[in-house]
Amino acid sequence: MAEGVLAGAPDWLLPLAYLVASVLFIQGLRDMTHPRTATRGNATSAAGMFLAVAVTVLWFEILSPVVLAAALLLGAAIGTWLAVTVETTEMPQLVGLFNGFGGGASALVAGAELTEIFDRDAAATPDVAVAAAIAGIIGSVTFWGSLVAAGKLHGVFRRTIRYRGEHLVKVVLLAVALTAGAFLVLQPGVFGETPLAAWAPSYWVLVAAASVLGVALVVPIGGADMPVVIALLNSYSGLAAATTGFVLDNTVLIIAGTLVGAAGMILTVIMCESMNRSLPNVLFGGWGEEATDDEMDDIYEGEIQSTSPEEVEMLLDTAQRVVIVPGYGMAVAQAQHAVAELAELLEENGVDVEFGIHPVAGRMPGHMNVLLAEADVPYDKMRELEEVNPTFSETDVVIVTGANDVVNPKAKEAEGTPISGMPILNVDEARTVIVNKRSLSPGFSGIPNPLFTLDKTSMLFGDAKQSMQDLVNEYKENH
Ligand code: TAP
Repeated sequence: MAEGVLAGAPDWLLPLAYLVASVLFIQGLRDMTHPRTATRGNATSAAGMFLAVAVTVLWFEILSPVVLAAALLLGAAIGTWLAVTVETTEMPQLVGLFNGFGGGASALVAGAELTEIFDRDAAATPDVAVAAAIAGIIGSVTFWGSLVAAGKLHGVFRRTIRYRGEHLVKVVLLAVALTAGAFLVLQPGVFGETPLAAWAPSYWVLVAAASVLGVALVVPIGGADMPVVIALLNSYSGLAAATTGFVLDNTVLIIAGTLVGAAGMILTVIMCESMNRSLPNVLFGGWGEEATDDEMDDIYEGEIQSTSPEEVEMLLDTAQRVVIVPGYGMAVAQAQHAVAELAELLEENGVDVEFGIHPVAGRMPGHMNVLLAEADVPYDKMRELEEVNPTFSETDVVIVTGANDVVNPKAKEAEGTPISGMPILNVDEARTVIVNKRSLSPGFSGIPNPLFTLDKTSMLFGDAKQSMQDLVNEYKENH
């Protein structure tokens, strides 16, 4: 029965609204599977969430309308401000924060529901107690783990903290959380129905142990594995929300949480496969040593040829097929429009141009696709790794702009580096390679790139936007 503003409304209205919201979530996810419909998918899912939140707050007398309106307005204002101001390159850490808040909210809501039950001097039924314990553990791990992951991606701290016995520490913390959870669930049977004073501490001990576990799980993981961690924590935030849905007996929360949990897990698996890593290896394995800047200078000493926009233009003049490989630097420089213009000019002059897109190029899944689509590059010009790799041996010129790790042959050749085993774009098989970046600095993984020293490689040093624009101008002048 409706208690709040909707008092008197028929009972079927709430499940119907939840059903419509769930259909909107599923349709939204479906639309997000293609870049062309992704924006619509986002709006559809947001409409579903708005409906679910609106009907819940109007149906149940949860808080005073003034407090509720203030909370909704504040949340909407912060969300809008973040959406408008955050750079595309900072999106992964923002997603990380959102996951964290989702997990934290689930843990708090489950705790609040238990407190309410105990306040009535009642006992939580076993199903509610089990669901609350799971929500508390997963939600707390997600909140703290996500804060650490977002901090690492944002460069607040980059150190990977490893120590002897770290796995034992994690096992002990998990054991404490599970024991507190078991205590919470078994209390009525073992000790009889006890009031809040005896119950509540179990839940908060569980939350405290799981919070430390969240930090302990993420601090030893290297920065380059953070995207996988963020995807996994996204999945956890969904699981926490779904279990909180069982605590509250709220179907839309169960459905939305399950969708997020499943989507996050699928993304995690795809990303692990793209990096050729197993999930346990990402979560518990260490990475090889990263090279220092001095080592980097030694490695490249006397081995680098640099080039200029004029020389590259001459090279492009004779090319039949060109592949452009963008990376994180293109996103930083916002060079996508200049890159798209160069591709268009080349095509107008009869050159076959395609883009080689690595699944983890940039700092988030689909990063390059989104930027190139924004610059109106047709989708059929963006080739995935498996499609483009066999074509490099027939490619005259590859222009690598702002990419590094995703074209680093060390992934194939060396053991024990952060990218060993990761499938890469085999640009070294093309006839000529132009690498555009500002310096010889390493990419995200912090290791040198032997591609730069090949005889067929020339470095076009400079900011990606400026260099691509110079190239466009040069090309226009000569055609
Ligand atoms: P990176 O290996 O990170 O290399 C990017 C390069 O861009 C740098 O070497 C940098 O060199 C250059 N650069 C930076 N600003 C530039 C600018 N304004 N103009 C021109 N160049 C610029 O990038 P990648 O090849 O795209 O590889 C991605 C890496 O990030 C992988 O290791 C991946 O695992 C990791 N990662 C991926 C994701 C996802 S899901 N995509 C998320 C997080 C991390 P200079 O400083 O010399 O210019």
